[in-house]
Amino acid sequence: MVNNKDEYPQVIHLKETISTNNYLRQHLLEERLPEGSVVVSEYQTGGRGQTGNGWESAPGMNLLFSVILYPEHILANRQFIISQITSLAVKETLDLYTNNISIKWPNDIYWQDKKICGILIENDLTGTTIHKSIIGIGINLNQTLFKGDAPNPISLALITGKTYDKQEVLNRFRQLFYSYYLFVLQEKFIEIKDIYMQSLYRKDGYHLFTGSEGSFYARIYNIENTGHLLLQLENGEIRRYAFKEVSWK
Ligand code: BTN
Repeated sequence: MVNNKDEYPQVIHLKETISTNNYLRQHLLEERLPEGSVVVSEYQTGGRGQTGNGWESAPGMNLLFSVILYPEHILANRQFIISQITSLAVKETLDLYTNNISIKWPNDIYWQDKKICGILIENDLTGTTIHKSIIGIGINLNQTLFKGDAPNPISLALITGKTYDKQEVLNRFRQLFYSYYLFVLQEKFIEIKDIYMQSLYRKDGYHLFTGSEGSFYARIYNIENTGHLLLQLENGEIRRYAFKEVSWK
């Protein structure tokens, strides 16, 4: 972290809030929290997902939190590095409890073919760098019934039949996440990318994708520093996609 030595990250616990991302943004207007600080809530009345969707989570069941970073040293065109380290820290946290966890590009966390964690990163840019980054994470831990319209939710409890201590999982995540952020500060971008590529969902072989051109079989060829996905078709052709421009199947 880039804190002064007496400025340790704080953890703010809430019973209920609209969204931990919103709460953190609002709180920062009143007080600058140390980098790496976390807001965690038992329940969200208006949890937000990507592309305007909601995020379902039954009261007290799952880990719902947001982390603040001030990554002013990261260029705006490298902001994907924050998605990479966040996904890796979540994946490696869940690896402590089960097998078959992977990162579905760009930053969904999957167990087999089901989604166990969603990540919503909101970066505020000033000029060419990132002024602040609010990283919202919802990890399904103990919920066993999902009523919403999310297509394929799963929780750690559904996978293993056990229940999990939210605080312990959060502590594990924080350790891993701070280590990865240190990598970023040390500009170990290539090392991070290598681990990210190794951790990807369906990283090997040809799979069915759907883009504006229709459906086609392709394999993951590369991911650019900007986060664009490069797919290679069976005839060798390379296609380049931004987030939401292509989906699996
Ligand atoms: C997704 O759609 O995959 C992203 C879901 C992100 C959910 C988390 S829960 C904690 C934080 N607060 C929110 O309102 N959303 C994120």
